[in-house]
Amino acid sequence: MGQNSPQKHALGLYAEQLSGTPFTAPRSANRRSWLYRIRPSVVHKPFAPIADHGLLRSTPFDEVPATPNQLRWSPFEIPKQPVDFVQGLRTLGGNGDLQIHAGFAIHVYVANKSMTERFFSNSDGEMLIVPQLGRLRVITELGILEVAPCEICVIQRGIKFRVELPDGQGRGYVCENYAGLFRLPDLGPIGANCLANSRDFLTPVAAYEDCEGHHEVITKFQGKLWSAEYDHSPLDVVAWHGNYAPYKYDLNRFNTIGSISFDHPDPSIFTVLTAPSDIPGTANVDFAIFPPRWLVAENTFRPPWFHRNFMNEFMGLVSGEYDAKAEGFAPGGASLHNCMAGHGPDAETYERATQVELKPMHIVDTMAFMFETRYVVRPTRYAMDTTELQGEYFECWQGLKKNFKP
Ligand SMILES: [Fe+2]
Repeated sequence: MGQNSPQKHALGLYAEQLSGTPFTAPRSANRRSWLYRIRPSVVHKPFAPIADHGLLRSTPFDEVPATPNQLRWSPFEIPKQPVDFVQGLRTLGGNGDLQIHAGFAIHVYVANKSMTERFFSNSDGEMLIVPQLGRLRVITELGILEVAPCEICVIQRGIKFRVELPDGQGRGYVCENYAGLFRLPDLGPIGANCLANSRDFLTPVAAYEDCEGHHEVITKFQGKLWSAEYDHSPLDVVAWHGNYAPYKYDLNRFNTIGSISFDHPDPSIFTVLTAPSDIPGTANVDFAIFPPRWLVAENTFRPPWFHRNFMNEFMGLVSGEYDAKAEGFAPGGASLHNCMAGHGPDAETYERATQVELKPMHIVDTMAFMFETRYVVRPTRYAMDTTELQGEYFECWQGLKKNFKP
């Protein structure tokens, strides 16, 4: 064994295991990493509760009644006063119970200040971050991720990080998943390739900070924020190995599958990542995208059809336009269609799609996404009171007229 004996590390580092699943999780689901760090994570002053949570909320989501109405929000404005990634988290809604690892929360973030001596970690869930405006430089315990709009990153439970804003400001969406970790969906008859391929998910290499002095770690624990003082940077991991690590993914690498004869596959064909629940095929939350693609199906109403769904659908738009809506759904905005809420193309889109000559059509410059969940998304008071909520959303369907000719 010699120099590399775990008894005493050659460089004077401490070894620490970070377990993202139970020790006894089946091998295929077991996730852990070994961190080799300057000080073990336990070296810090006690955490004290933070009184001001801003607009960040957690389960139970019971500030206001959940509404059966379709909801849509205009792009969320970035404030004038300095606000970093953590201060800029605003919860739109959520579901489940984080104590029993069920459900998730939906946040948007609006930020204009980089985090320097402030760090964040989330004990309640993993965070899937979808930047919409401005790049993020996410400096984590396990290394650095540079994430631009049309890319995503996932920072798992317990991993400390801070966020820098190379473009001076940032806006985007966060899915905080309380349940089992996101993974790639099964492909069934699609086969061994397509949709998101595992080779395109990038994890960082170690990048440590060896600095002394005041550092603050904010942790989200059981829905509340806590703050602790460290006399050194907590990002002091010099080396690591394992399979519990943050990752990024370029959504443009998604291999989109669609119909080459007629009609639509269900939108589950666009699933990038799935966080399963205990019922097979019934996700705690799926992350799906609607990227640039060709539409070639014949004899087909091509926009997303009118439908009502057992599942609950939150959508956001990173860039461009979404093919079910003529206007009103803008980059940086969002929509929510809960269980059994009717939705579909607006009147203008319906009219156009039923008249148009069906030629191969290239949808370009667009990136919409969906968080789809088995549990009803219960909005926060902020989501229902904010001026960004579009009270007139229902009107986009009122022009759908009766065409029935018996
Ligand atoms: Fe839908």
